[in-house]
Amino acid sequence: MITKKIIIGNWKMNPASQKEAVELFDAIKTGAQNSGAEVVICPPYIYLSELKAKPGADLCLGAQNVSLESKGAFTGQISASQLKDLGVEYVLIGHSEVRNYLRETDEVINRKTHASLKADVKPVICIGEDEGDDKIAVLTKQLMEGLIDILDVSNVIIAYEPVWAIGTGNNCTAEETQSTVLLIKKILTKMFGENAKQIRVIYGGSVNSSNAQDYLKNGGVDGLLLGGASLKPEEFIKIAHEFK
Ligand code: PGA
Repeated sequence: MITKKIIIGNWKMNPASQKEAVELFDAIKTGAQNSGAEVVICPPYIYLSELKAKPGADLCLGAQNVSLESKGAFTGQISASQLKDLGVEYVLIGHSEVRNYLRETDEVINRKTHASLKADVKPVICIGEDEGDDKIAVLTKQLMEGLIDILDVSNVIIAYEPVWAIGTGNNCTAEETQSTVLLIKKILTKMFGENAKQIRVIYGGSVNSSNAQDYLKNGGVDGLLLGGASLKPEEFIKIAHEFK
């Protein structure tokens, strides 16, 4: 049921200027052509419209966050329908940096997921335990609460990103990722039955060109979410071509 694997680049609060963002985007757009993966770049909000004006056949845009509200007096926020209007196709929800620094709860994540699906923007819901956590308990709670009352899961992506692996160079092994992906799929099957097969489960956390292939071969994943590596065009392009 899952057609294509996906590679998502999360630029976080980088690069420092629009000029650099355009250069980075252009390099990735050219190099990632015919990679065999669906390629998604999530730049900071402020670069979205400039980058949208540079369509690439195999490349689409995602946002790094979204408001749970649909419109009105919510200073500083961006709605899912505004993203949709700009041509944005994906949105990261519940990234651990947002959960951590902005104190985002699973209830808020659930409301953002509903808001995104309503506006036809595909949510990439990030889950993951930190060091010392009870992994099964954390993932079960994040999935159960984050996906409450979601009826159509065909456009939902789950990104397994253990907090301890993000930006640390200490990646989760492909074997451990595979067993965790199985666990996630088991929980999703309990929640959604056969429809759970429509949900792509991807991995993120210190992925680079040396370990990417291991995840694709042995990690049981439907794609990868890259932070640091997405800011280095050669690295990102190399990884994208591992999907062939
Ligand atoms: P990293 O970040 O690849 O730099 O570890 C991943 C992420 O934050 O999504």
